[in-house]
Amino acid sequence: MSTQASGLAVETAGLVKTFGETRAVDGVDLAVPAGTVYGVLGPNGAGKTTTVKMLATLLRPDGGEAHVFGHDVVREADEVRGRVSLTGQYASVDEDLTGTENLVLLGRLLGHGKKAARHRAGQLLETFGLTDAAAKQVKHYSGGMRRRIDIAASILSTPDLLFLDEPTTGLDPRSRNQVWDIVRAVVAQGTTVLLTTQYLDEADQLASRIAVIDKGRVIAEGTKGELKASVGAGSVHLRLRDPDQRAEAHQVLRTALAAEVQLEPDPVALTARLAAEPGDGAADRAARALAELSRAGITVDNFSLGQPSLDEVFLALTGHDTKDEVAA
Ligand SMILES: Nc1ncnc2c1ncn2[C@@H]1O[C@H](COP(=O)(O)OP(=O)(O)OP(=O)(O)O)[C@@H](O)[C@H]1O
Ligand SMILES: [Mg+2]
Repeated sequence: MSTQASGLAVETAGLVKTFGETRAVDGVDLAVPAGTVYGVLGPNGAGKTTTVKMLATLLRPDGGEAHVFGHDVVREADEVRGRVSLTGQYASVDEDLTGTENLVLLGRLLGHGKKAARHRAGQLLETFGLTDAAAKQVKHYSGGMRRRIDIAASILSTPDLLFLDEPTTGLDPRSRNQVWDIVRAVVAQGTTVLLTTQYLDEADQLASRIAVIDKGRVIAEGTKGELKASVGAGSVHLRLRDPDQRAEAHQVLRTALAAEVQLEPDPVALTARLAAEPGDGAADRAARALAELSRAGITVDNFSLGQPSLDEVFLALTGHDTKDEVAA
């Protein structure tokens, strides 16, 4: 495979990993263009971490092939290790050391001189908004601070490929945004990022292409535009003042949104799933629909427009939601 020549950071073909009876990764094909953020989206147990670990040479595949910048992850593991860095769900910073101590130690392990290691640590702590926490032990960091120091540790020496395994799971919105900014900054410096996530909005914010995985298999792959075209652009939820106006609202919305509109068990509530239409954003369509309702004299008490959740993506792609997955 001439991954290098083809401009791919990662290329896998039929990648497999089994744990006893479990086929954690069951024939995964991926092609990750260099210099981009690539999103791997899937629910708990889909095989995200297992895939990443094989690409980072931490687990040996049981079948198929994987190349990182043209190097085979099994036969040329050293070359691969020299070019990748992993920020995992199970990261490598030492809880008992301070932020500075961790980064300096890792820098020294990478072969940086004492002065250079200190300088780089200070720089990264500042970039990641951790200067005030630099002298605190990492075990006293909040979840968001912890995630930021993990990423800082993994980009001490700028890797060609950075794996971020669910970098924002469990973080509050502000910390998520900080992590997203960091990811954008890392990519701007030329690093390819392979990001796993359980959130469609995160993949949408960061990734150019997305693979959706389910039970160890890729069930959809494409640009986020392509993915949204297949799963829809989001859902509109409305609550009316007066239940007697719901039938009329139903008609108005169907026409204005050109979408199926559902009547909810709540007698004043309606929901519509919007198809993705290039050049006509969901928000614009929703705004026009609201204006139509107002013109028809229908009072709307509450309105929201949400992006499809991972559940909705799975429902659209597989006909069942992620909870069935776990049960199955
Ligand atoms: N070391 C292991 N031994 C046995 N089974 C494992 C091992 N690691 C993973 N598995 C199983 O493989 C499957 C895929 O796990 P994996 O951790 O790759 O999923 P994931 O997509 O990362 O999920 P999460 O979102 O929960 O992190 C799961 O069924 C899991 O229980
Ligand atoms: Mg995982």
